[in-house]
Amino acid sequence: MIITPATKLLALIGDPVGHSLSPLMQNAWIADHGLDAVYVALPLRSADPAAAIRALKDFGLAGLNVTVPHKEATALAADRTESAVANVLRREEDGSLSAFNTDGPGFLDALSEAAPDWRARVKRVLIVGAGGAAQGIGQALSPFADTIHFANRTAERGEVAAAALPNGRTLRWDDLERGFGAADLIIQTTTLGMKDQPLYDWPVALCRPTAIVADIVYRPLETDLLRAARGRALTTMDGLGMLIHQGARAFDLWFGIRPDIAKARERLTAALA
Ligand code: ATR
Repeated sequence: MIITPATKLLALIGDPVGHSLSPLMQNAWIADHGLDAVYVALPLRSADPAAAIRALKDFGLAGLNVTVPHKEATALAADRTESAVANVLRREEDGSLSAFNTDGPGFLDALSEAAPDWRARVKRVLIVGAGGAAQGIGQALSPFADTIHFANRTAERGEVAAAALPNGRTLRWDDLERGFGAADLIIQTTTLGMKDQPLYDWPVALCRPTAIVADIVYRPLETDLLRAARGRALTTMDGLGMLIHQGARAFDLWFGIRPDIAKARERLTAALA
């Protein structure tokens, strides 16, 4: 790679960003297409993240990916946005900033890859958790499902997530077994099962034989939940799917090129091994 004054700079901002797989994924795609660009990770801890983002605009950054906790500030800092919660910024030719959200569409892309017939199969969705990822996924799935149930350890947060959707519902954490038994699609969005975090004994034995089971955790790539679901021959979707597809949509927004999903999966799987 040769870096010159003309090299376009792209960055991931968030706090933390130290363990992100996005620089590996995006720089490999940049190399695949011989683009004069480089993607770096910038930790941003600021009382005024929108001001920091506008300063990056003054430095002429070509684009940004944004992760927790700056997605709302990103939408505010942009000159135009398609969503109040944005994970992608693009600098336009006139120097203005456009904000996008590729998390929701990226999740749907990943689901279509894992279960191409999901639209015919999914009526009842169970989302475990109610954080930012859970809310974004709920919003993306809402138009395609009858009901979206949120089961969250802290019930009030689940109620807030459910109230944001016309078909949002809540399920008590104590009722997880019932939820697992009823759902056509289960999405695990909490930190449970993540490396160095507590495990949970998910009631996978109660799942319908046609259920699709997704986990957004990717360290480890095969969580206990996914292992149990595969043990029952259920359709599964791992945590790399959403990460790769949201990144592919961001790459397309910046460069107008749809990058290779399978190559990214090979590279990230190797990096996680
Ligand atoms: P993000 O925005 O990235 O999704 P988050 O807002 O920190 O992350 O959400 C983490 C989720 O994991 C929450 O739903 C949290 O439940 P609470 O709202 O009750 O905190 C859930 N979570 C974390 N640790 C958990 C645990 N030990 N048991 C059950 N849920 C847990």
